[in-house]
Amino acid sequence: MKTSTDYGYMTGFANHFATEAIPGTLPEGRNSPQRVAHGLYAEQLSGTAFTAPRSENRRSWLYRIRPAAMHGTFAPYGQQRLHSDFSAGPVSPDQMRWSPLPVPEAPTDFVDGLYTMAGNGAPEAMHGVGIHLYAANRSMQGRYFYDADGELLIVPQQGRLHIATELGVLDIEPQQIAVIPRGVRFRVDLPDGASRGYVCENFGAPLRLPDLGPIGSNGLANPRDFETPVAAYEDLEGAFELVAKFQGHLWRADIGHSPLDVVGWHGNYAPYRYDLRRFNTIGSISHDHPDPSIFLVLTSPSDTPGVGNMDFVIFPPRWLVAQDTFRPPWFHRNIASEFMGLIHGVYDAKAEGFAPGGASLHNCMTGHGPDAATFEKASAADLSKPDVITGTMAFMFETRAVIRPTAQAVQAAHRQRDYQACWSGLRKHFVPPAG
Ligand SMILES: [Fe+2]
Repeated sequence: MKTSTDYGYMTGFANHFATEAIPGTLPEGRNSPQRVAHGLYAEQLSGTAFTAPRSENRRSWLYRIRPAAMHGTFAPYGQQRLHSDFSAGPVSPDQMRWSPLPVPEAPTDFVDGLYTMAGNGAPEAMHGVGIHLYAANRSMQGRYFYDADGELLIVPQQGRLHIATELGVLDIEPQQIAVIPRGVRFRVDLPDGASRGYVCENFGAPLRLPDLGPIGSNGLANPRDFETPVAAYEDLEGAFELVAKFQGHLWRADIGHSPLDVVGWHGNYAPYRYDLRRFNTIGSISHDHPDPSIFLVLTSPSDTPGVGNMDFVIFPPRWLVAQDTFRPPWFHRNIASEFMGLIHGVYDAKAEGFAPGGASLHNCMTGHGPDAATFEKASAADLSKPDVITGTMAFMFETRAVIRPTAQAVQAAHRQRDYQACWSGLRKHFVPPAG
């Protein structure tokens, strides 16, 4: 067994990186020479159409010990918790909220710990998202996973993740995120044991940084804070398993070697990590809130300009200074649909019930906003002083299409069936003018 141990990161967002774990691996001046150095195979991994405009084109060349084609025949994996079937049955317009997904007691790795909450669109149509939680307690042992249906945005809430991918190793902890491109094979180790988090499976266009418009050339998530791993490889042989998510279901195949055997690669289709604490939060310094799009970290664009297939938005620590303004997030109804999670601390629009690891769903045109306790407190707050929100990190997967909860999520024991009661205490304050 040989495994490279030099882990590290390169900074920038979707740059054309070039990295090699063994010097002299990358061919010079060509992508697929007649013979690759060190007896490696050349393989291209394309994440966009060959003909996509240059600014959107993502592909990498991998120089590996064995091509990705080498594995046994796939057979159904046989589980029901992770899927992409969002089409069956009516969807209630109710506001919905869930307590954290319990961490299992039986040995469960990242793949088996995935649990589909909701979604829209479809992998075969290549638009929409799958929204999943994971709760796991052991590392993936002797097996590797890839998702052909979508790019994976992984948001840990409890426990660190050590993610060994074909293109290198990502270590993340809560308040950091990892993005694994569609098709990239990986293994997840859990250095802290019991672990939990959220996954957005993006069937649409790859996530990218949003344009900044009048904000200018700095702000929100800055490109230099995105980190892509340097090449790292495993030269391992054994009776391993390759698990694939393809067309909404899991499949398994025998594989006689580690598929994480890429010794060098170059290109701009690669996994990356980002620390949400580095987000440059921008807000009002006069009155009123900007729309929550001001907290946009990454967006998967749709075919309609300005309308995201999925937007990843965070609610980080920040100062509230707006005058003559109701400072928490306002009451609202949107055409977009919102799935929220809480990584850490308390969310400023809810006094209780929205716990770290929990989730809420507010669909198209479903009214929501601060609960009664938050409204009363904020309405009476002293605005002569700034307020600061610390020790919190909430996020939202926002989509243009309605987010359809799965039957297992609707029926789950940890769904809070009394969620709507958080607004029932909002008092009638209306006093019509006399006469
Ligand atoms: Fe909302």
